[in-house]
Amino acid sequence: MKVLVVGSGGREHAIVNALARSPQRPELLAAPGNPGIAAVARCVPVGIGDLDGLVALARDEAIDLVVIGPEAPLVAGLADRLEAEGIAHFGPSAAAAQLEGSKAFAKEVMASAGVPTAHWEEVGTVAAGLRAIDGRYPTVIKFDGLAAGKGVVVAPDETTAREALTEMLETRRFGDGLVVVEEFLDGEELSLFAICDGERAIPMVPAQDYKRIFDGDEGPNTGGMGAYTPVVGAPDPDALCAAIHQPVVDLLRERGTPFHGVLYAGLMLTPAGPQVIEFNVRFGDPETQGVLLRLRSDLLEVLTAATRPGGLASVAMDFDDRWAVTLVLAGAGYPASSAAGDVITGLDAVGAGVEVTHAGTARREGDGALVTAGGRVLNVTALGAGPAEAREAAYAAADLIHFDGRQLRHDIAQRAVERMTP
Ligand code: AMP
Ligand code: GLY
Repeated sequence: MKVLVVGSGGREHAIVNALARSPQRPELLAAPGNPGIAAVARCVPVGIGDLDGLVALARDEAIDLVVIGPEAPLVAGLADRLEAEGIAHFGPSAAAAQLEGSKAFAKEVMASAGVPTAHWEEVGTVAAGLRAIDGRYPTVIKFDGLAAGKGVVVAPDETTAREALTEMLETRRFGDGLVVVEEFLDGEELSLFAICDGERAIPMVPAQDYKRIFDGDEGPNTGGMGAYTPVVGAPDPDALCAAIHQPVVDLLRERGTPFHGVLYAGLMLTPAGPQVIEFNVRFGDPETQGVLLRLRSDLLEVLTAATRPGGLASVAMDFDDRWAVTLVLAGAGYPASSAAGDVITGLDAVGAGVEVTHAGTARREGDGALVTAGGRVLNVTALGAGPAEAREAAYAAADLIHFDGRQLRHDIAQRAVERMTP
């Protein structure tokens, strides 16, 4: 079995590692991969935006399964291109990927499927935005399209709202020039991935992501600065999946655009029950690192089954009861800018049992030294009997790793530890 993983981040490194644990012993390729992935898979320098190149690679290498990591190639139609070539792939069609590609589409699907979500309005001008907000603060302002988790502003007052609307609608004018103004939801956030085979959605274990750059949820949003799994006080994953993911899978099947892949619900656990903040059509980064480290079933079997309509009927996923804590080590200046060229040391000192995944690293030309090459540089994931043990092991390992300007949050899973301590 030959598997190609598309992508180059910590998520893809975690996916490749989980596939490498499969008893089917697949031959693994990655495009383009990264220096960490290169230890487990053959990396081929084809970028995630080069759809022709990716299809040609899959065909030339006679790949049995293509696993598509990031959203951009999904929204751009990589799954459709592979489908047309008869190449099995894990990841939804461009039509189904609109769940992530367009917030307006996602909201319309949620309304039709009866999935609870915040009230919202789409606007094209600053004045229309302020009218839609109508003095209700805090409020949430979102750019309608892919923005790598950085297109959202929670505005506490009118000044901030006006600034955000002006930036998104006038100064930068991303994408189609539309913005979504959304009701602010208060509560614990939870990420729940469900693997979908076009007919059925089966949940993985819940995780919590830390989106802000600084401790105490201060500062701007990032792609994610850490995560842990499971989540204290989370509702039963099967019940959540039945109420949130399954109705969406049913609706998309009825509409002739069945969802195959991972449907990721970003949820807020509000006093009025769970509400969807967003859907993503791929694994979350960095939540995947902990979730897949806890997966005891064969990931390759699960992903392969999801490519066939109804293929998951006989598949069950089994997870380790231990907790996992993931820390993101980011470079100086992240999220405003990316680091490059700073030498990374200390990885050899990290003991077995802790998984270090590469997100933004590169090999320096000439001496091959490992250097930073991105905003999020490395992820450290540790398991433990409880959140305290997992947290301690993750921070101890992170302390061993050095590069200039290294940033990390110090409070990942801290609340879980406090809530678990009587
Ligand atoms: P998104 O890109 O939609 O996931 O938004 C990024 C982050 O902004 C979320 O993870 C939340 O922390 C926050 N956020 C988004 N929408 C809302 C909302 N309606 N209420 C409160 N916080 C939100
Ligand atoms: N962890 C957030 C995301 O993957 O979108």
